[in-house]
Amino acid sequence: QIHQVFPYNMVFIGFMGSGKSTIGRYLAEISGYNYYDVDTMIEQQAGQSVQEIFSIHGEKHFRSLEREVVERLRTVDHAVIACGGGVVLDAANVSHLKEKGKFIWLKAAPETVYERLKHQNNRPLIKDKNFDDIKNLLKSREGLYGAVADYEVATDGKLISDIGHDIMNMI
Ligand code: S3P
Repeated sequence: QIHQVFPYNMVFIGFMGSGKSTIGRYLAEISGYNYYDVDTMIEQQAGQSVQEIFSIHGEKHFRSLEREVVERLRTVDHAVIACGGGVVLDAANVSHLKEKGKFIWLKAAPETVYERLKHQNNRPLIKDKNFDDIKNLLKSREGLYGAVADYEVATDGKLISDIGHDIMNMI
């Protein structure tokens, strides 16, 4: 029913571990929107995991696959799109996703990101899971997320359902 009141795709942006996939899936479920996960689409297209793509072909190749996937998403409607944390580094991606979507920035403190990712091994850009590296990369990305965001939501210490309801009330 939400697509009658919110005539845009919901595009989730933000740092690794900010909850884009989790919140995106949750909102797709409660809104009836279709769910698209950019990283998953890249993995399906490549037949390889994100880590494999980075380690075998390098980040540049990953970014070109990412661009192709985002271009395909230009045509989707009634969609919840969970981006990878680096999607908005590319201005072309931003303009493609903005054609039909509003950007919802899920904000998380470096401490939160660290806690959420410390036992995971699927983030090649922070594979050492060093707190200072996470903090610095997050800091370097924040201005960009803020510049393109239509909405901002804090996620630290909050339940998925509460974040979901915050978003539903905001949009
Ligand atoms: C990246 C974030 C990852 C994934 C890749 C690069 C980034 O996605 O696309 O490892 O540059 O921030 P998540 O934000 O879903 O972890």
